[in-house]
Amino acid sequence: MTAKILVLANQKGGVGKTTTAINLAASLAMMEKMVLLVDFDPQGHSTTGLGFPKPDRRAGSYALMKGAPAEALILSTEVPMLQVIPTGKDLAQLEFELFEMPQLQELRKALEPVMERFDYILIDSPPALGMITLNALTAADEVLIPMPCEFFALDGLAELMETIRRIQGGPNPALKLGGIILTMAEERTNLGSAVAHEVRQAFPGKVFQTTIPRNIRLAEAPSHGKPVAFYDLRSKGAQAYLNLAREAVGVMEPTPAREN
Ligand SMILES: Nc1ncnc2c1ncn2[C@@H]1O[C@H](COP(=O)(O)OP(=O)(O)OP(=O)(O)O)[C@@H](O)[C@H]1O
Ligand SMILES: [Mg+2]
Repeated sequence: MTAKILVLANQKGGVGKTTTAINLAASLAMMEKMVLLVDFDPQGHSTTGLGFPKPDRRAGSYALMKGAPAEALILSTEVPMLQVIPTGKDLAQLEFELFEMPQLQELRKALEPVMERFDYILIDSPPALGMITLNALTAADEVLIPMPCEFFALDGLAELMETIRRIQGGPNPALKLGGIILTMAEERTNLGSAVAHEVRQAFPGKVFQTTIPRNIRLAEAPSHGKPVAFYDLRSKGAQAYLNLAREAVGVMEPTPAREN
């Protein structure tokens, strides 16, 4: 096998990138896929959300970008088929280093030696369109865009799409828009469904059918260092991410395109 590399990207903060990275990764692993989650955001929320301390510069994705072999940096989680490369704030330094000497292929090159071991590699990225995110987009096969069901959701999306086009036109012609994931949907509000409708109209066929509801268990689980399915399997949040994983496997294996 060769891993499909998926990046969670949206330069807006707090849209559900990390929540989706952790819980989609865990849900795919629960479907018996071998999954690696690479925390590529200096905030390290995917790291702490899975119960790991933030590593120093020798042990996480900063070290990966400095030539340490991926193999040596991978940690096992309590989810049997989910592994992680953690990060700490040292990764922020990379933004300056890559700015001084732009290099977009480094992450892809660093992951290549372990691609045979995984079905999916998910990359969590920071809320910015800087060099770190550009490296993640260059490494990826598909970009997944979490978007909250709120009034300003579409704000900034044009900029992100333009960035994706530039990456496609340059360092990563194979990059695909894997899909938009509607997150934090309030049940029983007209606004939420109006926004969802608007996003589906604007991106026909590109929005996952599964929407992620606003669910307190999703917000609580990281403080217990667990994916939501290991914190409260029956919660709506856990079930939604399991559904998303099923849908994602359906559309991201080389089978027919989806309709919605
Ligand atoms: N569906 C949801 N229901 C309830 N809370 C959620 C949901 N999704 C995310 N949250 C909470 O909202 C906050 C922001 O989510 P998250 O950290 O996933 O966003 P992010 O895009 O990764 O943020 P950043 O841009 O800072 O990295 C977190 O406190 C998270 O626990
Ligand atoms: Mg995050």
